[in-house]
Amino acid sequence: MSVTVRVPAKVNVQLAVGAARPDGFHDLANVFLAVGLYDEVTAAPAASLRLTCAGPDADQVPLDESNLAARAARALAGRYGVEPAVHLHLAKDIPVAGGMAGGSADAAGALVACDALWGTHAPREELLEICAELGSDVPFSLVGGAALGTGRGERLRPLEVGGTFHWVFAVADGGLSTPAVYREFDRLTEGTDVPEPVASDALLSALAKGDATALAAALTNDLQPAALSLRPALADTLAAGRGAGALAALVSGSGPTTAFLAPDAETATRVARSLTASGTCRTARTTTAPAPGATVLS
Ligand code: C5P
Repeated sequence: MSVTVRVPAKVNVQLAVGAARPDGFHDLANVFLAVGLYDEVTAAPAASLRLTCAGPDADQVPLDESNLAARAARALAGRYGVEPAVHLHLAKDIPVAGGMAGGSADAAGALVACDALWGTHAPREELLEICAELGSDVPFSLVGGAALGTGRGERLRPLEVGGTFHWVFAVADGGLSTPAVYREFDRLTEGTDVPEPVASDALLSALAKGDATALAAALTNDLQPAALSLRPALADTLAAGRGAGALAALVSGSGPTTAFLAPDAETATRVARSLTASGTCRTARTTTAPAPGATVLS
């Protein structure tokens, strides 16, 4: 018997970042939107905890105890006094270290898959608590849809989305380290007065109305200057997508994946083709949002 769980990637349609806190984290106003690129996590009984991974960048995924999916299985097993004797297989389609919460998705997927496999039936609140301990983006991977994350991003308020948004994601060669991007943010903002992060009313209203033009005008990512500073070539990718008809372009989270909002599916296809042909990214993918959170498939 095995359990397979599908988990979405995310894009941050607003990522407002405050000054570094004493614990090194940053307070955020983080508007998450789940998008239709998915990883699948399969949990099956095994002699002991074991991880395998398949996908285009499988070789870049650590398969030891540091993997968030392994830590998720151990955290659940620890709370319920069960042996974490499970084989977790990660079928990865979300870019690795791409700023789309792929590692967080795998953690949320592993948690839900193990919970079903072991029959622990943890209450949702407890699953969310474990998610928050694992990482700032993990609770959102569990719930999906759209949500405002405050604190370090782990305190979630679900948001209404009034329509379907069309997106293109340009996958870069190689990843970016999230801590390194936050450190670069600290360096770039040193000596300046970093404002308290606040969610944008215009953005929340654009999401609620399903209005792509209004959403495009309101997209912001405070980590973008830091990601561009570490990876200047991303500016060419952003320009290529804008030139091809995207309503707006931005770095996804800490990058280096770049995100392009399109007015409709046809434009999204055209933008993706132009991006691929531009040679400024490895590949470009079209998809829609919002997408559901972690879902048991079998
Ligand atoms: O929470 P998570 O482990 O995903 O965070 C990864 C890293 O990103 C942290 O170690 C920290 O450097 C940075 N981070 C931050 N402020 C946040 C979220 C993440 O500085 N709100």
